[in-house]
Amino acid sequence: MRHLLKLSDLSKDELFDLLYLADKLKSEKKAGLKRHYLEGKTLGMIFSKSSTRTRVSFEVGMYELGGSALFLSSIDTQMGRGEPVEDTARVLSRYLDGIMIRTYKQSDVELLAKYGTIPIINGLTDYCHPCQVLADLMTIREYKGTTKGKKLCYIGDGNNMANSLIVGGIKSGMEVAIACPQNHKPDADIMKWASESGEFMCTEKALEAAENADVLYTDVWASMGQEGEMAQRMNEFKSYQINNDVIKTAKRDAIVLHCLPAHREEEITAEVFKAHEEEIFNQAENRLHAQKAVLVTLMGR
Ligand code: CP
Ligand code: NVA
Repeated sequence: MRHLLKLSDLSKDELFDLLYLADKLKSEKKAGLKRHYLEGKTLGMIFSKSSTRTRVSFEVGMYELGGSALFLSSIDTQMGRGEPVEDTARVLSRYLDGIMIRTYKQSDVELLAKYGTIPIINGLTDYCHPCQVLADLMTIREYKGTTKGKKLCYIGDGNNMANSLIVGGIKSGMEVAIACPQNHKPDADIMKWASESGEFMCTEKALEAAENADVLYTDVWASMGQEGEMAQRMNEFKSYQINNDVIKTAKRDAIVLHCLPAHREEEITAEVFKAHEEEIFNQAENRLHAQKAVLVTLMGR
């Protein structure tokens, strides 16, 4: 594994190796052990979109692993003034040991990997959010013991989160059910792959997807970059909410996850969020452990 550009690039073994390593790094941290697996290494973190969890988990992760991290807001670098990704990749490869990038186009992340000579980590694009889903799978394993045979139900926009959850869920042996409006479905190729590779369904009915689910998941109705569509989306998505009806349809011991930030009374009711906040904030904590696993795997040798 040279980069983490999207989960579909990973074999099942690579995916589970990352999850085992994340568990190990979490136990080491809880035991007070300080293991500097990345002594002297530097990660560049390019951001073209806002972030709380991704930025802080990668920055603290590098610090805890004995390395350092550099925050590079794209508007403050020449990238924001149009310097080509190909040139940026070749220049930054000469200073850094790895790059994490959050941007719009998946093709920019792939270009960075093509032209750079150091590991590239996708910290979210419009297409996918692989780092988040590693933390999500880690959390599901903590609460349910395993991902194998469990049912994951995602209700909401067929966006970056939905795309990565489908791939991560199916690859880790879960049944995946998506509920979204007809014109906001996940990526067609990903859905085709999922239907051929495991148990997968996509429906317009939230309750149908939630039937017997072990894990309920949602994300914002309007992602970063879609703020202008907010009013229209509020209308289109109003029946795609995790509420008490959805909770009653899932398994009695179902957990609720949210990548955050959450918009209460939109994609999730305040009541459901409150009842499941322990899971949701443990999930957020796991970003740190999962991201450290990615860093050690890609930059540790
Ligand atoms: N879930 C997530 O990626 O959060 P941030 O946008 O705060 O990084
Ligand atoms: N779908 C959201 C995820 C944020 C972590 C977005 O892209 O804004």
